[in-house]
Amino acid sequence: MNTITLLQPDDWHAHLRDGLALERTVPDLAKQFSRAICMPNLVPPVKTVEEAEAYRSRIMAHVPEGIEFDPRMVLYFTDQTSPKEILKIKKSEHVNAIKLYPAGATTNSDNGVSDISKVYAVIEQLEKHQVPLLLHGEVTHNHVDIFDREKRFLDEVLSPLMKQFPGLKLVLEHITTSEAANFVLEHDRNVAATITPQHLLFNRNDMLVGGVKPHFYCLPILKRQTHQQTLLEVATSGNPKFFLGTDSAPHSKNAKENACGCAGCYSAPTAIELYAQAFDQAGKIDRLEGFASHFGADFYGLPRNTSTITLVKEDQIIPESLDYLDGEKIVPLYAGKTIQWRKL
Ligand code: NCD
Ligand code: ZN
Repeated sequence: MNTITLLQPDDWHAHLRDGLALERTVPDLAKQFSRAICMPNLVPPVKTVEEAEAYRSRIMAHVPEGIEFDPRMVLYFTDQTSPKEILKIKKSEHVNAIKLYPAGATTNSDNGVSDISKVYAVIEQLEKHQVPLLLHGEVTHNHVDIFDREKRFLDEVLSPLMKQFPGLKLVLEHITTSEAANFVLEHDRNVAATITPQHLLFNRNDMLVGGVKPHFYCLPILKRQTHQQTLLEVATSGNPKFFLGTDSAPHSKNAKENACGCAGCYSAPTAIELYAQAFDQAGKIDRLEGFASHFGADFYGLPRNTSTITLVKEDQIIPESLDYLDGEKIVPLYAGKTIQWRKL
């Protein structure tokens, strides 16, 4: 199959940042996706519906002429989040969920939740109003190996949480392990997961063999090939519990190619093509549309898009770098490499 037409896809996990960064990130994402969950880990974080509306307006100011883009907003869960804020989310036109970062788990997570059992009053409201809880599923204890942090989160945090709140609607974001995929499979329809292009296309060898490749470094970190294989299987299985979330996370070239490089891969400019590459390599390109364009909207209770996009099987070279901020550069995922799909 050399040409495929899909219902317009959405990105259910993206980082756009704020201020000058929006000049780069908003057009890149809006040219690829109709809607995107805009993650709230700004400095300071987006903690209330009012702040989310203001952030959404700043994003909208950068949407290129002639392109329709509908940013879906998310609040940042802190130890101080009020249970009352959840009803505000439920009633809001643009805010769809709340994101829980265990404090210290990733970029800009210092204000995250320190102990999930302390915020059960808020989670009760989430379950009651069926507002999705989006989870960065990694424990943060120093003594837990970085490759085991997702699995430990499932055992120590998520299993007890689901026992307490079996009706909670949740998205385990950017899953990276077979254990996380199985956890999602074993639960009911209220438990779903997003999967990134990097975790479908690459594994830790790509990041570490022959030299450290900082542009493959993201959190949760790339795992061994067997996990990559499971993720490919579930993403291409047609199971609606797994859907597209790029986790496109911009950091400047200098911040990545650094003695202490930042975590995050910038995939927005060619995200749908990267997914097409992964699905095609697995011989499952026909399953891309459900994953990219149906299942996320269905989970969030939003209408499916109505327009379409076309992808052609034609080589394209991903640029080595792009302009970012004032005079800086950003290196996109798989920079300088050739992929076989191109969006028309
Ligand atoms: C994200 C970022 O840079 O904001 N980084 C990442 O490695 N994925 C945060 C996140 O989603 O963990
Ligand atoms: Zn993210």
